Amino acid sequence: MSRLRFPADFAWGSATASFQIEGGVEERGQCIWDDFCRWPGKVFEGDNGDVAVDHYHLYRADVTLMARLGFRAYRFSVSWPRILKEGIGEVNDVGLDYYSRLVDELLEAGIEPYATLYHWDLPTALQRVGGWASRDTASRFVEYARIVADRLGDRVHHWITHNEPWVVAMVGNLYGTHAPGWEDPGLALQVGHHLLLSHGLAVPVIRQASPGSQVGITLNLYPTYPATTSAEDLDAARIQDGFSNRWFLDPVFKGHYPEDIWALAGAQVPRVEQADLSIISRPIDFLGINYYSRHLVASDPSGPMGVQTLHPEGEYTQMDWEVYPQGLTDILTRVYADYSPRAIYVTENGCAYEDVLTSDGQVHDAKRTAYLRAHFAAAHKAIAQGVPLRGYFVWSLMDNFEWAYGYSRRFGIVYVDFQSLRRYPKDSALFCQSVAQENAVVLN
Ligand code: FCB
Repeated sequence: MSRLRFPADFAWGSATASFQIEGGVEERGQCIWDDFCRWPGKVFEGDNGDVAVDHYHLYRADVTLMARLGFRAYRFSVSWPRILKEGIGEVNDVGLDYYSRLVDELLEAGIEPYATLYHWDLPTALQRVGGWASRDTASRFVEYARIVADRLGDRVHHWITHNEPWVVAMVGNLYGTHAPGWEDPGLALQVGHHLLLSHGLAVPVIRQASPGSQVGITLNLYPTYPATTSAEDLDAARIQDGFSNRWFLDPVFKGHYPEDIWALAGAQVPRVEQADLSIISRPIDFLGINYYSRHLVASDPSGPMGVQTLHPEGEYTQMDWEVYPQGLTDILTRVYADYSPRAIYVTENGCAYEDVLTSDGQVHDAKRTAYLRAHFAAAHKAIAQGVPLRGYFVWSLMDNFEWAYGYSRRFGIVYVDFQSLRRYPKDSALFCQSVAQENAVVLN
């Protein structure tokens, strides 16, 4: 048995996102995910976020639960259409008050709030005028960020501008399986650029409104491995890495797009104005990394970008994502070596499995516990190698609306009965509680 201790002020937390948990639809404006849910065939069984797990009304009890589970940090997102129903214009005070109360509640419970400003719920009114394809949306985002930071900035000291801009750009505009649902490579890259631009524009505005706070961005990153050491497979891995990781990392940390992928994109490259990359690469205080799995790739001239993604033998979650903890060590050490962020947080990591609620209200989710234990240990390995990892947020606090999968995938460490909305901590929650309380992971 070995016991891995984490640094003294390590932030153990859980993560959620507004659309996935809040509900309370009558007190906010519509967003692109409301629209996407109504698009036949796009979301599992036409599920929607009208009620979700009703965190909007149950937040007090949820904060109490978090505190009971020993968490000292919580990453949540602010819903843009709850602050500005039409994306711009008149502020919805009810919405702003709600987040203010949530933050107070967290602080009273000894939980440090980490606020994400954009976790995918763009106001419908802004999509009607082009959404992220329009450069104007970047300026609208900055106005929204200012309003939120003005109100919460005295109490929120960690801000994340965007969650996973790669997913917003590509899954929403190239693969079409997330809102707004388009399949257009040029559009996807333009959207990605405007997301990055909005990030860079918002950084100084947030700092001004919330003095002394830490500002960062969250990227979903995939360590990428070649199937063999052949020159072709190594090249395939370079391209895949460029597309999934460097396309966002390079602009933020180095102030340029990766040349190899830029060349591959040909006529689809985004329109970039002169100052954009210096805005995008303004220094940030931390990088958030969401880690779920890896890419194993081989060269395949008939595949997209000449790459084929393999499905190796191994263990998979219900999402069909390979369980690969070593990948977390690898991506953390690599990102630190290549980009030297001042600090890093794992802002999401977790898994979906088919959970069973027993008649006495328990969920024995041994696989999720094993997954988390192995990933915590992988993070520890990276810290031991010098990576300035400051915290770890489990995705997710509780079962919720899993985007295109609706309510058919459970990522929570707390089980939610989607009818009664009752919460039941799973065994994995108790495991996290012991880790957070002891600030250590025990390996058997
Ligand atoms: C990430 C999202 C998060 C959640 C997990 C499973 O890509 O940021 O909202 O859906 O995947």
